[in-house]
Amino acid sequence: KRCFRRGADGHLYCEGVRVEDAMGAAERTPFYLYSKPQVVRNFTAYRDALEGLRSIVGYAVKANNNLRVLQLLRELGCGAVLVSGNELRLALRAGFDPTRCIFNGNGKTLEDLVLAAESGVFVNIDSEFDLENIVTAARVAGKKVPVLLRINPDVDPQVHPYVATGNKTSKFGIRNEKLQWFLDSIKSYSNDITLVGVHCHLGSTITKVDIFRDAAGLMVNYVDEIRAQGFELEYLNIGGGLGIDYHHTDAVLPTPMDLINTVRELVLSRDLTLIIEPGRSLIANTCCFVNRVTGVKSNGTKNFIVVDGSMAELIRPSLYGAYQQHIELVSPSPDAEVATFDIVGPVCESADFLGKDRELPTPDKGAGLVVHDAGAYCMSMASTYNLKLRPPEYWVEDDGSIAKIRRGESFDDYMKFFDNLSA
Ligand code: LLP
Repeated sequence: KRCFRRGADGHLYCEGVRVEDAMGAAERTPFYLYSKPQVVRNFTAYRDALEGLRSIVGYAVKANNNLRVLQLLRELGCGAVLVSGNELRLALRAGFDPTRCIFNGNGKTLEDLVLAAESGVFVNIDSEFDLENIVTAARVAGKKVPVLLRINPDVDPQVHPYVATGNKTSKFGIRNEKLQWFLDSIKSYSNDITLVGVHCHLGSTITKVDIFRDAAGLMVNYVDEIRAQGFELEYLNIGGGLGIDYHHTDAVLPTPMDLINTVRELVLSRDLTLIIEPGRSLIANTCCFVNRVTGVKSNGTKNFIVVDGSMAELIRPSLYGAYQQHIELVSPSPDAEVATFDIVGPVCESADFLGKDRELPTPDKGAGLVVHDAGAYCMSMASTYNLKLRPPEYWVEDDGSIAKIRRGESFDDYMKFFDNLSA
């Protein structure tokens, strides 16, 4: 069941709220509109799937860093997966328990690592220089840092190359040949760091759970090998990456339950605590990006719907290829002529599209148009290109009311960057 559905009256609803009414209430268009109950449902699916296992669900904050979303997930029992010092600061502000947080990344700075060491989060080791920096940070902070070793298992996730991270040519993690060197080094730094687990992350938008099973199988072999050398490993972190049904074709895609069930026996057999790092599958389907149609035009045989949103607010279609997310009109008029359109924004380049070759009823000027499944990697990847400032965000609460969860960025916000600069 989707949280955005077409009602019998022909209007698109978010839970019980007409999206058109949300457009009327919003500070401006475009904006992001979420269903708060859907966030809860998505988390509950993971919680139920993990029953009977010791586990941490580390929400990948990069997917969506709205403070209200983070607070909600934290209240539900989530931990957090962080990739920058600022994400770590934000997670601490949102009240996450540091012992349920993992600081990850292939280019963590010493400064950020000191913050991580001070706050007591888990830190992933990604490379030789990263290990050195983690040890230095531990000494600066005067704290022993719990670490996981990010292993590159060389498993092909069968996804777009930009979001594949666990094959051998990717920049992430360490390869098998170097494992012994890392274990010896970690031993020699036993006053500063404690190896508590292993981590891998294969990629994003994965739609076959066998891929996770293969990787987990390889990873428990590493666990055995590392334990045999006297390390007391507690955690197996299998990363994030579960895909969602962006095409709305109702293809049967694996659920969190399917994912966890493929690794459950392996985790239990080694008496491990499972860490998973979902981003997209927790938040993507909770949200639509809501635009207003500026006008319709055609150039020769090509038809365009021009909307007020663009690649600045939502770059996924431009960055990862044409069909990323399903597009619909909010309240199409029943007798509008259906045609094939590219849905484009006002930004000054041809990379600026939200969808290509979509069959839609011809919209009137001012009509609403949504891009579905926009909760993950959309607002968090928004830019201010063409000085299209970042849009406001709203969610529909359990009681059907609409609450603003982030205001839109204003021109005055932008001008503040230039205050008090010397001439
Ligand atoms: N853990 C690690 C170490 C990651 O690098 C990522 C995502 C995740 C967890 C969460 O993966 P998820 O469950 O969300 O698939 N901007 C791209 C996605 C980049 C994913 C980066 N890493 C997109 O819009 O599709």
